[in-house]
Amino acid sequence: MKDITITDSIRYVGADDTTIDLFESQYVVPNGVSYNSYVILDDKVAVMDTVDTRATQQWLDNLDRVLQGRTVDYLIVSHMEPDHAANIQLLAEKYPTMQVVGNAKTFTMIGQFFTVDLTGRSIVVKEGDTLCLGRHTLQFFMAPMVHWPEVMVSYEQTEKILFSADGFGKFGALSVDEPWDCEARRYYFNIVGKYGAQVQALLKKAASLDIAIICPLHGPILKENLGYYIGKYDLWSRYEPEDQGVVIAYASIHGHTAEAARKLAGLLEAKGAPKVVLHDLARCDMAEAVEDAFRYDRLVLAAASYDGGVFPCMEDFLLHLKAKAYQKRTLALIENGSWAPSAGKCMKAILEGMKALNIVEPFISIRSSMKPADEAALEALANRLTEA
Ligand code: FEO
Repeated sequence: MKDITITDSIRYVGADDTTIDLFESQYVVPNGVSYNSYVILDDKVAVMDTVDTRATQQWLDNLDRVLQGRTVDYLIVSHMEPDHAANIQLLAEKYPTMQVVGNAKTFTMIGQFFTVDLTGRSIVVKEGDTLCLGRHTLQFFMAPMVHWPEVMVSYEQTEKILFSADGFGKFGALSVDEPWDCEARRYYFNIVGKYGAQVQALLKKAASLDIAIICPLHGPILKENLGYYIGKYDLWSRYEPEDQGVVIAYASIHGHTAEAARKLAGLLEAKGAPKVVLHDLARCDMAEAVEDAFRYDRLVLAAASYDGGVFPCMEDFLLHLKAKAYQKRTLALIENGSWAPSAGKCMKAILEGMKALNIVEPFISIRSSMKPADEAALEALANRLTEA
């Protein structure tokens, strides 16, 4: 395992997973993912969360190496999703005197996931409660729906460390050196994105703490420039665009709609759009398309009509955006249809359920393939999208 130092008495015992096909059975992770777990060594020993079953043995080996024969006094459970909680029963059985620390919702879920009897071994904490380990004291803050209802974060008061659960997490194994923003953003919008208000509530609590290090459950330990990462989370959770640019997401069957999308991209670039990003929804990573839709301030949807509706990958994309509370963006629509165009109406119907969208009217309707009049309409749309 790559040696990851946090402080002398707080150690990393998590594990990289570079062979998983789909994280949470839906996200491609080309550079893997890490399941982070930590140990605090003091008069009492606390383990901060477990790991996914895919990494159990490596985690146990790491634990043994760090514990050097000591027992575990407490297991702090920040989050019950199985990528972190899968080994609660195993650890409770390995260390029969270990106490499990969580909130009331944590223990309801432990009862649902496991058969272990924790009678007399459960410490139920509430907002602001503390647990003294010796020199270190953990304080607990509830963070419901960041990302599940039982989530809580722990603040270690002596070394000023925030154990932030899924917050500030990122796709990518720790063995991979890559920029934080891209995979942290893709992680955030696809996994936590729906819960912007709850992230804002957590950020308000965090603002009252003096934080030196953030230890998330996925991705790198953040030790410097924390304002940068907190600023990104603030922006993302307020649903404000991060960058100026136009995302063109297209759903094309035989290439004609794709041709219109590419034509528009060329026009936008020629007119000086700060950034133009094309996504072929039939083939791209949908999570990346969702990420970019949130990242940029303008979105064009171009889709073929299909079965009286819209080509399914576009419907899927829009339902993803809707589920993640997509809002506060400028949108334009392009439909294509050979006999009864239906994509535009269908896309608009899905968009109606979303907040604060500025939809450019009317949408462009192409019959089968682009004609000079369609090219003129695309030119006018490119003007609209670049004149703001
Ligand atoms: Fe990384 Fe919501 O679990």
